[in-house]
Amino acid sequence: MSDPLSSAVVRLHEAGIPDPSNEARRLEALAIEQGRDFEELVARRATHEPFSHIKGRRAFWNHDFVVTADVLDPRPDTETLVEAALSLPFDTVLDLGTGSGCIICSLLAERTTTRGVGADISPEALSVAARNAVVTETLDRLELVESDWFGAIEGRFDLITSNPPYITEEAYNELDPTVQRFEPRIALTPGGDGLAPYRLIARDGAAYLADDGYVLLEIGFDQGDSVQQIFKATGWRDVACIPDLNGKDRVIRAKAPR
Ligand SMILES: C[S@@+](CC[C@H](N)C(=O)[O-])C[C@H]1O[C@@H](n2cnc3c(N)ncnc32)[C@H](O)[C@@H]1O
Repeated sequence: MSDPLSSAVVRLHEAGIPDPSNEARRLEALAIEQGRDFEELVARRATHEPFSHIKGRRAFWNHDFVVTADVLDPRPDTETLVEAALSLPFDTVLDLGTGSGCIICSLLAERTTTRGVGADISPEALSVAARNAVVTETLDRLELVESDWFGAIEGRFDLITSNPPYITEEAYNELDPTVQRFEPRIALTPGGDGLAPYRLIARDGAAYLADDGYVLLEIGFDQGDSVQQIFKATGWRDVACIPDLNGKDRVIRAKAPR
C-alpha cells in the first residue's frame, strides 16, 4: 500500500493539477499546521479549488489576508497599485470595489494616521474585508460601505483607488473554468468591453476628490491606451500609466480636473 503523500501525488496528477508533487507537499504541511485531515484537503484540491481557498489565506503586501469564494484572490499585480499609492501624500482614501480589502487595509496599515472608506456592491465581500481590517489592525480607521460605485459615498478624499472588474465579456468566457467556478463573476468582468467602471470613475470621480487629489486604478495589460484616453478626454490632468514589475501596463494615475 502506498503512503498518503504518494497517493495524494497520484490523485492530484490524475485530476490535472500542475506540479502535483509540490502541491501534495504544500497540502501536507497545511494539514499539519492547521491540524486538518490531509485526505480531505487533497480531495478539495483535486476539484481545482484554489490552494488559497483551502488555506483560507493569501499573502499580499505585508499581511496574510483572509480569502473566501466571495472575493477575488488578491493578486501580486495589485501590489503595483499599493506601491504607487504609497508614493503619494494622503490623509484620506476611498477604495472602490474593495473586495477582500487588500488594497485599503495595506494602505491604512502602512500609513497609521490615515483613514479610509472601502466600498463594494457585495455585502459578502465587505464581511471578508472587515475580517481583514482585524488582521491588519486597521478596523478603527476603516469604514466599510455597501455601494454601487459612488452610489452611497459621501465626502471628498485625497486619494481614490480601485481595482475594478476589467476583463472583457469575451475574455471572461474563455477564462480557465476553475477561475470562473471559484471566483465571483462580478469581481472579474463588468461585461462588454471591460471599460465601463473606468468611464464611470472618469465621469463622477472628481466630485469625490479633494483639490489636486489623484485616482489610481488597476488596469489590464492591454488597456493602458484606452483608459488614459478616457481620462484625458474628460479633462483629468497628469494622466500617466505605471508598469508592473514585468514592464506591463498595470496602473493609471490621474489628477482631478480643475
Ligand atoms: C477585481 S475585484 C478587486 C477586489 C480587491 N480590491 C482586489 O484588488 O483584490 C473587483 C471588486 O469590485 C466589486 N464590484 C463589482 N461591481 C461593483 C459595483 N457596481 N460597485 C461596487 N463594487 C463593485 C466586486 O464585488 C469586487 O470585489
